[in-house]
Amino acid sequence: AIYGPERKNSKGVNLNINSQYRPLMDEMARFMETPYHYRPLLGFDVSEDRDQVKTVCSPYDRRQTVGTIQWTTAEQAEKAVEAAWKAFPKWDATPVEERSQILERFADKLEANMGELMALCTREGGKLLTDGVDEIREAVDFCRYYAKRAREIFGAPTVLPGPTGESNELFMMGRGVFATISPWNFPVAIFCGQTVAAAVAGNTVLAKPAEQTSLIASRVIELLYEAGMPRDVVQLLPGDGPTVGAVLSGDARITGVAFTGSTQTAQLINRSLAGRENAALPTLIAETGGLNAMIVDSTALPEQVVSDVVASGFQSAGQRCSALRVLYIQEDVAERVIETLKGAMAELSVGHPGKLSTDVGPVIDDDARADLQAHIDKLKGEGRLIAETPMDPEATGHGSFITPTAFKIDGMDALETEQFGPILHIVTFKASEVDEVINTINAKGYGLTFGVHSRNESFTRYVAERVRVGNVYVNRNIIGAVVGVQPFGGQGFSGTGPKAGGPHYLLRFATEKTRTINT
Ligand code: NAD
Ligand code: ALA
Repeated sequence: AIYGPERKNSKGVNLNINSQYRPLMDEMARFMETPYHYRPLLGFDVSEDRDQVKTVCSPYDRRQTVGTIQWTTAEQAEKAVEAAWKAFPKWDATPVEERSQILERFADKLEANMGELMALCTREGGKLLTDGVDEIREAVDFCRYYAKRAREIFGAPTVLPGPTGESNELFMMGRGVFATISPWNFPVAIFCGQTVAAAVAGNTVLAKPAEQTSLIASRVIELLYEAGMPRDVVQLLPGDGPTVGAVLSGDARITGVAFTGSTQTAQLINRSLAGRENAALPTLIAETGGLNAMIVDSTALPEQVVSDVVASGFQSAGQRCSALRVLYIQEDVAERVIETLKGAMAELSVGHPGKLSTDVGPVIDDDARADLQAHIDKLKGEGRLIAETPMDPEATGHGSFITPTAFKIDGMDALETEQFGPILHIVTFKASEVDEVINTINAKGYGLTFGVHSRNESFTRYVAERVRVGNVYVNRNIIGAVVGVQPFGGQGFSGTGPKAGGPHYLLRFATEKTRTINT
């Protein structure tokens, strides 16, 4: 039933239709100057602590402040774990219908406050208008999808067979206290998705947003409370990853962690969870980075390839875990595809994310900019540059910008880790080398998204069957998985599963109990 017409994804807003675009822009404009000041939102009152207050600036112009956020101390985090632990039995016993209805009311509130949330996404997260619309729409879809799925999973026990005189039933219930730790690149969608999934499954939740996007998370949690979520069931712990993270992954009362972020941080959390003494065995759900590739053969349509490469590599300034990092082009068509790509890259506009004409906004902060720039400088130094989009210093001079850049490299072996920005690496291959290309992609150990472009159906099938990744896209771009339509998540270094926005996601947040009665 969850795949059928009963549940529809949110329509969002079509920015190309003036009657939809104008009211949203007017609403957004009301919040473009609003200062936001938040403290941790916990199950108890938190007093002001000036030492912990951080000023938040916009990635596109560091001179503009968005507000302040007070970070959570380790002591407060411990107290929050205690509050979550105490709140768990009552919340787990709350009927799933009630829990699901909170998610649905929350989804309505996200939609109703779209203009304000988009303003925050732009100001704090540097998000383009189109990305902001998609962000809220995905969060709404997660809420409604998980609300519906929760009713199916937790609504009634599964009746199992047994001999005469015996009844057997299987119950699903929450595991306990979940920490949900999220990244800055989907500060509404992923933040909400993990948090509401853990809560609707009957767990109490300690939500740790990324340092860079704590104000968005705070506003979102206020809306969740307005929708009826008890304050001790979902608590918000903005703050330093290693400080708050050490409490969340080190406390024996944490029964599970749902993490989305870099592979390196997931490995740290895994080690910390494993090192706890006298702790129940935990659940770790980790959705991490990728070294995503696309293979283009000689039958592909160059214009379509380029349009999909530009979207996959440069949309959201390449700051998607799903983004394209390595483009493999068959030698016979390489020159034509690369020439068309150069033309398309020259047309991109880099600048203020709040303008509809902008194609590529800033990267999240100066640390990210410096890391990406070092990679660019290294490859430029090796003479590998193919193309870079011209950038206007007037429009970008006060922000953290990296222009879309494409390099030719010899093979994927040259890349150790994900470069989380608008940098594309291009490799050419001969028709006889397809198996070698697939083996190289698989040998890297990541396995998130992958694309293949070809008009030869047996070729696309051959390749798609052999790549070990979570999401394969044929003859289209490789970003923007839709909730309930393209369940999203990888394997290997890219994640543990289960897939977000898929039918099995909530199961990992739940535990099972079989009841046998001798009648
Ligand atoms: P990150 O790993 O630096 O941070 C993610 C979260 O972990 C943040 O909230 C941070 O504060 C927290 N953290 C940092 N150190 C910690 C510690 N020691 N213990 C506990 N928590 C800690 O990642 P990021 O830079 O915020 O996000 C970008 C990364 O996320 C990229 O690698 C991207 O590919 C990945 N990502 C993956 C998916 C997916 O679905 N697979 C989706 C989005 C982003
Ligand atoms: N779910 C996001 C995408 O598919 C990460 O782009």
